Amino acid sequence: MLNHQYTRFSLATRGSGRGWLLLGFTVVAFIGFLSSAPVARAQDSTIRAVQNIFDPLSAPAETLYSISLLVMAVCAGIFLIVGGLLTYAIIRYRRRGPEDDREEPPQVYGSAAIELAWTVPPILIVVMLVLVTARTIGEIQHHKMPDAAEEIRVIGHRYWWEIRYPKHDVVTANEIHVPLSSRQNRVPTEMVLESADVIHGFWVPQLNGKTMLVPNYRNTMWIEPYATGIYLGNCTVLCGQQHANMLIRVIVDPPDVYQKWLDSQKAKPVNDPQTAEGQRQFISNSCGTCHRVEDSQATGVFGPDLSHFASRATLGSGVAKNDDTNLRSWLHDPQVLKPGCLMPNMQLSDRQVDAILAYLRTLK
Ligand code: CUA
Repeated sequence: MLNHQYTRFSLATRGSGRGWLLLGFTVVAFIGFLSSAPVARAQDSTIRAVQNIFDPLSAPAETLYSISLLVMAVCAGIFLIVGGLLTYAIIRYRRRGPEDDREEPPQVYGSAAIELAWTVPPILIVVMLVLVTARTIGEIQHHKMPDAAEEIRVIGHRYWWEIRYPKHDVVTANEIHVPLSSRQNRVPTEMVLESADVIHGFWVPQLNGKTMLVPNYRNTMWIEPYATGIYLGNCTVLCGQQHANMLIRVIVDPPDVYQKWLDSQKAKPVNDPQTAEGQRQFISNSCGTCHRVEDSQATGVFGPDLSHFASRATLGSGVAKNDDTNLRSWLHDPQVLKPGCLMPNMQLSDRQVDAILAYLRTLK
């Protein structure tokens, strides 16, 4: 965007001596802008929405992909052999005419060679697959984490995700920021998965396999993404009416951008006096019974933490873009965008909605 402005500026001043000076200045500024660009890196907004195992971009997902290829190759081999023999038998021994009906074909009983041929190789194949699978599971589950590994807790709720960063004292919801890893400088993210109510399933196919979130139990998994971008995933266990809209966004940031994000989430929400009315309405309409906003009377834990709500790109666990139109609709009646979600219609007036909306927008 900046360079466009510079181009227009330089065209407008062409022709005079001062113009040339300005043009030179523009070029220098432009080069300066280009060379400074990598430092001021922004979040990569590439959407990575592949919902199958065939395009892994993270360490455990790559391992699962390669073992799947092996299993599929073995199964394809078995299919070709069995299908081929079957086709051969159907064609070779088909009924050729009425003379075939006069006598039975030779009946073969108890051929040791044939019995061995169809029992021993299948057993060996199954044993081989069991061993390879066991090794892969062991490799993934007992993977040694480097000290730099990030840790997060993911807690499934009907129908949203609570995300905690115990190392940094950061709490957010639905949009999980994790650092980018590289094969030289590994920064995997370990996840502890829990549930606050029913069984949910966490699956971001390009990052790792499925893991369940079970009440009163802690599951663990880890991811190690090798590409930045926004990875989309889903709850994979039917958990209620809005199961299909319990969407996951994992935002993989380069280390400096990730650090900036952490810093912004650690910062205290600004107490803008202009939105004091909204904050008052937020508390008096008992929004704070379910939602928490740091440094305020809102201390609820039943719904998502809203301390940095305005920094999130989506509403209702990924169901809609976090813009004013959708937020207004949500505040009027959450059941419109997400029927069956556990936030009730609070019967707010237009003025109350506007005030609360202005307040929420300051929670960056
Ligand atoms: Cu949570 Cu389905």
